Amino acid sequence: MGTPHEDLHPTGTQDRPTTAVRVTVRTAERMRDLGRRLAPLLGPGDLVLLNGELGAGKTTLTRGLGEGLGVRGAVTSPTFVIARVHPSLTGGPALVHVDAYRLAGGLDQMEDLDLDVSLPESVVVVEWGEGKVEELSEARLQVVIERTVGTTPDADDDARVVTVTGVGPRWALVDLAPLLEA
Ligand SMILES: Nc1ncnc2c1ncn2[C@@H]1O[C@H](COP(=O)(O)OP(=O)(O)OP(=O)(O)O)[C@@H](O)[C@H]1O
Ligand SMILES: [Mg+2]
Repeated sequence: MGTPHEDLHPTGTQDRPTTAVRVTVRTAERMRDLGRRLAPLLGPGDLVLLNGELGAGKTTLTRGLGEGLGVRGAVTSPTFVIARVHPSLTGGPALVHVDAYRLAGGLDQMEDLDLDVSLPESVVVVEWGEGKVEELSEARLQVVIERTVGTTPDADDDARVVTVTGVGPRWALVDLAPLLEA
């Protein structure tokens, strides 16, 4: 016990946090690795909400996820578009990468995007999605990325603490342990 990355809390019932892991991520490359480790846990229709301040590493995590899923195109910050679709190169689900920062209208606006893809057949990742797109799915994986600088004596600028929480029946029996550092 003690170090953050050893925490693993299976809990819960329907629509409450079911499983959570907390992992310390020291570099951007390790954040990408975390995204790659997340990919095998996800399938069609899954919704991932990424939250954390500007520059926390949400897009970096999504880049690794895209690599892990084997989708076309490098994941970048969707600054000038609200959503970008990355089709699978391997017959798996597409990755729909949404930046909800300016999605003031929440879900309604999301449905108006008229994406050329079926959300139930895709993995949908939403940066800044908290409080906006939860209704897209009865279940979701919530990822919160926090900087640790200033919180402990050995904290450095690059370290992040990532908390991943599965919400809803979809995640009740899913073991998130593969997300812990290999
Ligand atoms: N441990 C780390 N994890 C993730 N990124 C890191 C880490 N250390 C340094 N970085 C750097 O921090 C930046 C994170 O940028 P990124 O675009 O992924 O953040 P973001 O959360 O998507 O920001 P925004 O809110 O603007 O969309 C990158 O330049 C990355 O190289
Ligand atoms: Mg981003």
